[in-house]
Amino acid sequence: HLKIAVIGGGSSYTPELVEGLIRYYDEFPVAELYLADIEAGADKLRIIGELAQRMIDASGKPIKLHTTLDRREAIRGADFVATQIRVGMLDARSRDEKIPLAHHLIGQETTGAGGFAKALRTIPVILDICRDIEELAPGAFMINFTNPAGIITEAVSKHSRVKSVGLCNLPISTKMQIAELYGVPQSDMFIEIVGINHLNWTTRVLIEGEDVTEDFLNKLSGAKGTSMANIPDLEWDSEFIQSVGALPCPYHRYYYMKEEMYREISGHYQETGKTRADEVKEVEAELFEIYKQPEVNSKPAQLEKRGGAYYSEAAVQLMKSIYNDTGDIQTVNVRNQGIIPDLPGDVSIEINCVIKSDGPHALAPSKPLPPQIRGLLQVVKAYEELTIEAAVKGDYASALQALTIHPLVGDERIAKEVLADILEQNADYLPQF
Ligand code: G6P
Ligand code: MN
Repeated sequence: HLKIAVIGGGSSYTPELVEGLIRYYDEFPVAELYLADIEAGADKLRIIGELAQRMIDASGKPIKLHTTLDRREAIRGADFVATQIRVGMLDARSRDEKIPLAHHLIGQETTGAGGFAKALRTIPVILDICRDIEELAPGAFMINFTNPAGIITEAVSKHSRVKSVGLCNLPISTKMQIAELYGVPQSDMFIEIVGINHLNWTTRVLIEGEDVTEDFLNKLSGAKGTSMANIPDLEWDSEFIQSVGALPCPYHRYYYMKEEMYREISGHYQETGKTRADEVKEVEAELFEIYKQPEVNSKPAQLEKRGGAYYSEAAVQLMKSIYNDTGDIQTVNVRNQGIIPDLPGDVSIEINCVIKSDGPHALAPSKPLPPQIRGLLQVVKAYEELTIEAAVKGDYASALQALTIHPLVGDERIAKEVLADILEQNADYLPQF
């Protein structure tokens, strides 16, 4: 009797998840699906619930759907708790993107000062959800999509007893791109991905057992079209990619092309008065108008304007493999425990794992990380550790250090000013400070 709870069930992404649950029903027979949300999201939850019901009815699958504003009811006895919340909703994201811009820094929802602010707001709420899971569903797996996903997963693993796995759609999207590039099914490739969430590198590509990494880097070097809907698609310099010796993830553009990305983002904001969050709001309004229509019973194409492509694929694949003890390889966020020896044991990493019924088992990378990867990875991970410390304890010193060492800030005075703005503009959401 499989029960799934989705916390943040009123999200515009939920139809995608429902579609995945329907598609894989035979291997992953969900009996009860609970979509939970907060009072402020009640309208969205109702619309999503009605659409999800129509999708289920059209599929003929016997999934029993419930919508609720009572998170505890959703969590009680669940086998999987998927978390996809946005504390402060898109208004808060819009502020996260604008505060850094006002200080001539990149404003992005999951990296840099914006991601930092999001983490401060989100960690207390996620740990609160963990208390409910510990009490009401102690055996459940938490499948966390909430951003910044790596930081959130690490906070859960350091500060709760919940079994959690962090998920992002980037690794699965990368694998799909490579499968397309070589015209082979995913089952014929092995892709090594190493790093942390939104900062991972594809270090090795095997096609039918043959190592094609060099060829792969040649092919993808100058490539455009390797980004995501939410990240400006600046072209990688081929000489640079060769010198990294691995393919950076789309978010690396913020680090490796900091100046150009800043110009891109701030230029766009100056021209349009909008950041990505403001545009996502418009897409969402459009989506909800479609979701409302009684004849709509599948996920609309407009959802592809969002950055979360294949997110349901990643979520359902993971839950399905845990449920069936499959032993296949997926790239997810787990506790390091020595797998990347250059990072502390208790931090989260994004890494290939063998998925069994007791959860993911991380695979060690095939070779040590070269200094150019190790260095950036260590500094951003240290930022993440400090951010968690700041968020859990309301500790100003950790917050200041976190921001100062982040490569997208990198200046003590600016860090102080940005931090003051973040604390002030998020005061309603930061009980710990
Ligand atoms: C990517 C990231 C997600 C993020 C999304 C944002 O897919 O992996 O973690 O939530 O982009 O997309 P949006 O459409 O909200 O800007
Ligand atoms: Mn992600």
